[in-house]
Amino acid sequence: MRKVITLSSSLMVIILLIVAIVAVESPVFARERSQNTEAISRGAQLYDDWSKVVMNAVVPEGNHPLWSQQQTNTRSGEDTWKCVTCHGWDYQGKDGALKSGANATGFPGILAKSTSSLTEITAILKGANEPKHDFSKLLSDQDISDLAAFIKDGLIDDNIYIDMVSRKVISGDLTNGKSKYDSVCASCHGNDGTALKFRYEGTDVSLGTLAIQDPWRFLHRTRFGTARAPEMPIGVNIDWTPQDGRDVLYFVQSKLPSGLEVKETTPDEIVPVENKGGPAKNILTGILTAFGAMGVSLGFAVILGAVLIGVILLFVWLIRNQKS
Ligand code: HEC
Ligand code: HEC
Repeated sequence: MRKVITLSSSLMVIILLIVAIVAVESPVFARERSQNTEAISRGAQLYDDWSKVVMNAVVPEGNHPLWSQQQTNTRSGEDTWKCVTCHGWDYQGKDGALKSGANATGFPGILAKSTSSLTEITAILKGANEPKHDFSKLLSDQDISDLAAFIKDGLIDDNIYIDMVSRKVISGDLTNGKSKYDSVCASCHGNDGTALKFRYEGTDVSLGTLAIQDPWRFLHRTRFGTARAPEMPIGVNIDWTPQDGRDVLYFVQSKLPSGLEVKETTPDEIVPVENKGGPAKNILTGILTAFGAMGVSLGFAVILGAVLIGVILLFVWLIRNQKS
């Protein structure tokens, strides 16, 4: 009995200790983490379109001074000042989705910079390597610091999980994707993703279409949010793992209507071709056809008869020759 009491009391002490540690530790933990995720998601939204995040932002007239270094992409004006236009939604510039096509730029990716120090990334954004890449006149130190936090800790390389041709997630957990979509996203985007429309390359598209046309933009905005929808829950705030994001993308790509589905091929209707020769369609042509047929068989009979007569004559001639 005594043993049991000491055992259970020491157990109690241990449990109390754990509770105490967690109680003391977690607020600190949570604060640190949320501060960092806040900086990362704000940095990500600045990367997306800083002019919508920064208060009273002024986008300079004309194209970004570096824009003329490339000719493939014909966008102009405001778009050319966005980080994403030059470096891509997959953060891989000319080595990723912007390798080819109308949106290709030939500019480098930023993924490799996630191993650089915050100081170095900050310097790049202030034009240390290339004076034309100086954003310090347009963005505050806080903005640049958030961008650096995003580049250092927010970048995710999804390209090994996405088929670069079909743009679909190679494999994912549909059940996880569906349950996350139904519980977090469907209330605003609708069960089939068509409740809200977005502008994509000049047309209005629904979530299912966007997911296939630009899975990288889908992932970036689902994880970090977008200045256009401050009320939307953000993946990093609701503890999604990078794979959770890909699972939701996979579900949306696979199960929600996109308007891009491969159409079921119905066999081509067989159009009757007007028959020029062939069986007769009325009495006159019938008679003509009959005559035609007779003519043909008559001609054949004549030839056959001639051949037969020829053979007989040949025999007669041979027999005659033998007799003499
Ligand atoms: C008009 C196109 C353009 C825009 C807009 C642009 N960049 Fe760049 N960026 C470049 C080019 C070109 C380079 C390579 C030259 C250099 O190192 O500055 C570069 C380099 C970088 C690098 C270093 C990459 C490396 O591996 O050396 C980072 C990081 C970066 N940009 C981040 C950003 C961020 C963040 C923004 C938005 C605030 C931004 N860029 C906007 C064109 C652009
Ligand atoms: C509270 C409502 C709400 C919820 C919940 C919500 N969204 Fe959104 N979402 C929006 C609004 C509003 C927009 C912006 C529409 C626009 O651009 O005008 C948006 C935009 C988006 C975009 C960007 C589209 C683009 O233009 O690139 C994506 C991707 C997206 N949502 C995915 C999701 C996913 C995935 C979920 C579930 C995790 C979700 N949303 C949950 C309201 C919501």
